[in-house]
Amino acid sequence: MPRLLALGIESTAHTFGVGVVDSDGRILSDVKKTYIPERGGIHPREAAQSHARNAVNAVREALADAGVKIEDIDLIAFSQGPGMGPCLRTGATVARTLSLSLGKPLVGVNHAVAHVEVGKLVTGCRDPLILYVAGGNTLITCLVERRYRVLGETLDIAAGNCLDHFGIMAGIGPMPSAERLAQSGREVRPLPYKVKGMDVSFSGLLTAAEKLLRDGAPLEDVCLSITETVYSMLTEVVERALAYTGKNSLLVVGGLARSRRLSEMLGSMCSDRGVSMYVVPPDLAGDNGPMIAWTGILQYLNGQTLTVEESVVKPRMRIDEVEVGWRG
Ligand code: FE2
Repeated sequence: MPRLLALGIESTAHTFGVGVVDSDGRILSDVKKTYIPERGGIHPREAAQSHARNAVNAVREALADAGVKIEDIDLIAFSQGPGMGPCLRTGATVARTLSLSLGKPLVGVNHAVAHVEVGKLVTGCRDPLILYVAGGNTLITCLVERRYRVLGETLDIAAGNCLDHFGIMAGIGPMPSAERLAQSGREVRPLPYKVKGMDVSFSGLLTAAEKLLRDGAPLEDVCLSITETVYSMLTEVVERALAYTGKNSLLVVGGLARSRRLSEMLGSMCSDRGVSMYVVPPDLAGDNGPMIAWTGILQYLNGQTLTVEESVVKPRMRIDEVEVGWRG
């Protein structure tokens, strides 16, 4: 089979990412333009406007870095959901425009599936239990009968969102600030620890941590308390999922895969159980174009393309909506 080249566009939240990947799994370029809010969290409309301003240059840079011309691209993939509506629509518009003007197939990719697939590609792990933990998502999944089934997930906010929000409120900024300050913490204070089966809940914990700080606890101690509690909850539910599924490997993907402390806790639990742990490398942990391009190739080879009419974005798209016909 001739080598295929995919251009992938990621735009679910604050990152407008464009990547070029080939069907041998080689990542040829990875361009990221990140919207940084002046204050507070991500404002979806402002992020979308930033994406629109950066889109043309990001595509040009991704092609130049890959050393290919736009005519060489065989398919255009974009993140269809889940994510922030205005941000998704901007990426989808760029993808449709390229697809129509070049006459190349359009592939809509689920953002969570893409994190998993690029993690599998670069770590080489096969059939793992997966922890996808990031600013916008927290879920535990594995492939069963052609779908990534959700074994556990957050019942409210994502783990990364909890830590980012706390950092912004405390005036230290989003992650990894809280984890950095936690290193100087001396005491872990009790905070709500909400685990329900393999599900987790972080919103009460966030409120309690904010109150602890307002009541005068040292910032470093609160950072230590919130990070230790969040990571302990995640480690507990991953261990339960490993016991339930009998998997002998764990793959950690998403922005919080960069957390050294979380990896340490998961790693020690995995080594106790004789489970191999794989962590996606830092440059592919956060949102990126290559993960969309790579998953686009897998889906394209499986016949999963979209017409422009079908390419409507799905802000609440779930990982188990996607039929994984390319494996197992
Ligand atoms: Fe993500």
